[in-house]
Formats: sequence, structure tokens, C-alpha cells
Amino acid sequence: MVFQFVDLRSDTVTKPTESMRAAMAAAEVDDDVLVNDPTAFRLESEMARIMGKEAALFVPSGTMGNLISVLVHCETRGSEVILGDNSHIHIYENGGISTIGGVHPRTVRNNPDGTMDIGLIEAAIRDPRGELLYPTTKLICLENTQANCGGRCLSVDYTDKVGELAKKHGLNLHIDGARIFNAATALKVPVDRLVRAADSVSVCLSKGIGAPVGSVIVGSSDFISKARRLRKTLGGGMRQVGVLCAAALVAVQENISKLEEDHRNARALAEGLDQIKGLKVNVASVETNIIYVDFLKDSNSTAEKTSKKLKEQGILLMLESSNRIRLVLHHQVSASDVQYTISCFKSALTGAPEKNGF
Ligand SMILES: Cc1ncc(COP(=O)(O)O)c(C=O)c1O
Repeated sequence: MVFQFVDLRSDTVTKPTESMRAAMAAAEVDDDVLVNDPTAFRLESEMARIMGKEAALFVPSGTMGNLISVLVHCETRGSEVILGDNSHIHIYENGGISTIGGVHPRTVRNNPDGTMDIGLIEAAIRDPRGELLYPTTKLICLENTQANCGGRCLSVDYTDKVGELAKKHGLNLHIDGARIFNAATALKVPVDRLVRAADSVSVCLSKGIGAPVGSVIVGSSDFISKARRLRKTLGGGMRQVGVLCAAALVAVQENISKLEEDHRNARALAEGLDQIKGLKVNVASVETNIIYVDFLKDSNSTAEKTSKKLKEQGILLMLESSNRIRLVLHHQVSASDVQYTISCFKSALTGAPEKNGF
């Protein structure tokens, strides 16, 4: 029997709230491909303001936001981008920067804390004197928070240093800021300060802050005009898109402040799971809303068996490998859901029944 439903697969699984649905129903709309949708305009102006950049553009997804950004920065054929070997752009975006944009990726190892060593980034920049042979380095990409490293935050200091390095070599800096609000919240810095060194940022609205659809790219006015054209090329120009932007505006207004609680819940869940025999969580590395749980060799169960058992109890999660699972917190997971999840894990691994409903 299912006691509670707890969806920890991702922070993309949130359902639009009542206030989002009301805002969508009431949204003032027009044709956004003709640059006339007033609600899209409001969202873009607000996002540009919050992020401290000249302009913004609503796009259907984070993947398109990154693709457009990389392609605008790498207009010249034979361009190369430096990015993390564990980055979303490199691993999970179908190699779009190469297959669609003809941009060559040069990877640098991501450290467990999500950074790339600055010395290694500098060493990866192509010497322009070799341009007869080499691709031309045009761009550095960071990811903040770094998802595959467990939602780790890149600090202002680190980001500024990478920005300085980029400027020194005449390069641009793009941040995949799918979860940039989580990073700013955890670091306790204003988000515009965190991304000051970046020439562009792609921000997901449909992750932790809970909008149903969409991302926003921010940058200079010139960058955004080029991005608007590329968005159309890629089929991302949408007509009465204010319906989606209205929900995103509510997400921005109501949900950024909830991220702190998600992080507290993530920490409590990580601590609880780490105490269960057979499981290991690197609690100190849980800085935001993502948790990786490892199944130790002496565990009574496997990741797969446990996930099946938990599903029967209403808990959904993501299997990473045969001995690792990923859990992601969001505003529709409460502190009580966290306690329920811990008790279900305990019973799945130790066989002890859950107490009083949990
Ligand atoms: C770090 C990061 N960047 C980009 C994306 C892509 O976003 P979307 O799923 O909206 O294409 C994701 C999605 O999970 C992500 O985690």
C-alpha cells in the first residue's frame, strides 16, 4: 500500500502550482515570433534585470539555450570550445554543438567539486600561432551548479578567475546555469554577482524553480539579437508563448526563495541515508539539491532492487548505475516526505518495517 508519493527523480518533475495555472489562463499574449508577446517581454526583461545583463531570450529548453549560446559565440568555422568532461553540454546534449554547429569540443577534467583547474583550462587554449593546424579557441563553458558532480557550486572567486582568463586570451565565457539560482542560494550571493564575469548564461526555469517549460538565455543586446535569429533557425520561435512565460514569471517570483529549504531537505536526507548500513553518501558534498547514494559491497540489496521496492511505496528515484542512485529535491518534496523516504530506505535495506505510516 502506498502511504505517500515522493518524486525524487529530478527537479524537472514538478507540477505547475495553482498560481502558475491561474497566471497561464490569464496571460496576455501575442505573436512572439513577431516580437510582440507582452508576457514574454515581461519575463525576458525581469530575467535580464535579475541576472544583471542587457537582454534575455526565452527558449524552449536548457539544451537549446546552451546550443544557441555556444553557436553565437562560435560563429567562425573551426571554432573550439573548452568545457568540462563531465558537463551536461558535453555528455547529454547529443553532441549538438558539433553535429549542428560544427563546433569542436575540447574537454578539461572536472574535479569532484565541479571546477576545472584553471591551469588546465589555460593549457587547453590553442596557440593562435598554430592556426594553420589547430581549431580556434573561442569560448570557455562552466556549469553552475555542476550537476554530475552532485550539484556542486562554483564560487564567485572561481568564476571571476575563469572570466579573467577568458578576457586575457580574447575568449568568451558561457555559463550553463541550469541551476544557477541553487548555486546563488547556497553560496549566499546575489545571482547577478555570481555571473558577472560571464558573457552569457543559460538559466533553466523548469528545474528547481518549478516552471513547467523553458529556459532563458541572458547576455548583451547584440548577443541576444543573434540568439533570437538562431532560435528561429532551430525551430524554437514560438507564437503565443506568453502562456508559458506567465508560469515562469510566477516561478521566478514565488519559488527562488524556496530553494534554501530544498537544500536543507537534501542535507537531512543525505544525513539520514548515510546512517543506514550498506549505504554511503558523501554528506559534505551535498551543497544544493542533488544527492548521490552509493550501495556498499556489504549492502543487503542493490540499487535496482531497492529502487523497485521504493517504487511500491510511492518513492521514485533515478538509477545511475548498478550501485548508485541519484535523488533530487524540489519544492514539492516536504520535510515529512524526506523522513518517509529515509524510513522506507531503512526497511528496504534492513527489512525493518516502517513505523506508524513512517
Ligand atoms: C546542468 C544542465 N544543463 C542543461 C540541462 C538541459 O536542460 P533541458 O532538459 O531543459 O534541455 C540540464 C537538464 O537536466 C542540466 O542538468
